[in-house]
Amino acid sequence: MPNYQVLTLKYRPQTLEQIWIQEHIKTTLTKAIENNRVAHAYLFTGPRGVGKTTTARILAKSLNCASGPTITPCQQCSVCREITASQNMDVLEIDGASNRGIDQVRELRENVKFMPTSCPYKIYIIDEVHMLTQEAFNALLKTLEEPPAHVKFIFATTAAQKVPATIVSRCQRFDFRKATSDEIVERLSWISKQEQITISEDALRAVSKRADGSIRDAEGMLDQLRVFKSDKIELKDVEDLLGIISADLFFEYTDNLLTADPSQAVTFIDRVFSSGYDFIEFFTGLLEHFRLLMMTKLKINKTVLGISEQHLHRLVEQAKKFNLNELLVIMQHIADNEEIVKKTNEPKILFEILSLNLINILTNKSVMPTNNTSNKNPQLALAWQNVVSEFLTKHPFSANGLQHAVINESSPDNIVITLDDAGNSEFIESKKSEIENMLAKQLGKPVKINFVITKKSRVKTNPGKTAHEKSDNDEDIESEPAEPDTDTDQLYKTMFPKGKKIK
Ligand SMILES: Nc1ncnc2c1ncn2[C@@H]1O[C@H](COP(=O)(O)OP(=O)(O)OP(=O)(O)O)[C@@H](O)[C@H]1O
Ligand SMILES: [Mg+2]
Ligand SMILES: [Zn+2]
Repeated sequence: MPNYQVLTLKYRPQTLEQIWIQEHIKTTLTKAIENNRVAHAYLFTGPRGVGKTTTARILAKSLNCASGPTITPCQQCSVCREITASQNMDVLEIDGASNRGIDQVRELRENVKFMPTSCPYKIYIIDEVHMLTQEAFNALLKTLEEPPAHVKFIFATTAAQKVPATIVSRCQRFDFRKATSDEIVERLSWISKQEQITISEDALRAVSKRADGSIRDAEGMLDQLRVFKSDKIELKDVEDLLGIISADLFFEYTDNLLTADPSQAVTFIDRVFSSGYDFIEFFTGLLEHFRLLMMTKLKINKTVLGISEQHLHRLVEQAKKFNLNELLVIMQHIADNEEIVKKTNEPKILFEILSLNLINILTNKSVMPTNNTSNKNPQLALAWQNVVSEFLTKHPFSANGLQHAVINESSPDNIVITLDDAGNSEFIESKKSEIENMLAKQLGKPVKINFVITKKSRVKTNPGKTAHEKSDNDEDIESEPAEPDTDTDQLYKTMFPKGKKIK
């Protein structure tokens, strides 16, 4: 391609006027230049790719341009051209990460004394300034206190909290902000128009979401996409190129939960795993999907949500199949497991457990607070619901009985938990103090619990033995056919005591 220039370079702002979204910074700097009140040191902080370095260079140009100081540097003089190409001797761009030591700062201090070669000011732009060592900062401090009149410092950093307060307080600080999803869509649409790139709204939304507020990242992705696809860029192209998990998958997974067919859910999980998707990303995406379902149910509009019309329409349809309470409980379950998924070596098993648990919730609503606790105390109901999900995460194979437990207050500090003797009641009783602690943590006060065991067994078992301890010659027991004793089979038995089987 002749004269091919990447978009981030081609569309890099060259004047304050051209900078997007950082309005307050533009206004303040414009006034400072116009009134000749430019400070001797600035600190530009903010997330990646939002214009810190760009603004630093523009400020340098505005001060040093042959016709400066001016808010409209000519772009033609040798100084302007040199600064654009990072080749001006008096505008020194220093990477703080690779020049972080005391020696480099001492050198800088020596250098500062000399007059600029061809410009009014010697301007030091130190990027990633938070990377300097403590000694380097100390050495810098002296220069910052009494800088020669011909010197300006512009520090840029993505981590202002790592810059010592002594330095920060000697600078004028500007906080650059992230771009919103809509702003990125707007900028990319504008660039696409200039470049005659055709791209669908859905695709733009996906790019802007992935960019997470960074204008540079968004432009970089658009660049990649136009090379990848010469005709119209569609959502599918963005998903393929950037490895974004398609929203279709979240809709499908949610449908599986609604169908309450464990085998479908498990097959789906297997498919997601074997397609090589990143599981943590899938998990986060799923949480976001349920958040969106909830938001559409609450009638939050699509602009606030940053989604397309078509996506909104699908969400509205799916959200109709849930009530608000169900969405809340599901979100809470997913959120509770998010940290664990990041740490576990067995994300697949964890995900299966979660999915089956969610199906359980949707089918028999056993963890719904109103069903299992006295309506009189919603705080207890919510606390109990959290205890059940925490316990289930810790003891995934044995907590089934707890989900079906009925909980009541005999006095504010005494809780009675009624268990069915078929549902691992012995195991649960043995964890009494653990449950007490969990509940106390939720309620913020110590509580005592007592168990009441009822006998309304679902699977007939030999009295005194649990379902899993059945011996071979217990012929009077109505037992299920023997199945291979794998973890997963065990899990399903526990989750579905009535014996829904997985093929
Ligand atoms: N506010 C903005 N207005 C217009 N374009 C921007 C803006 N911020 C970033 N860009 C685009 O992103 C590119 C990179 O911006 P820049 O180098 O200034 O980001 P940065 O904040 O210094 O990022 P980093 O922290 O990663 O160094 C620019 O060339 C430009 O194309
Ligand atoms: Mg930068
Ligand atoms: Zn100029």
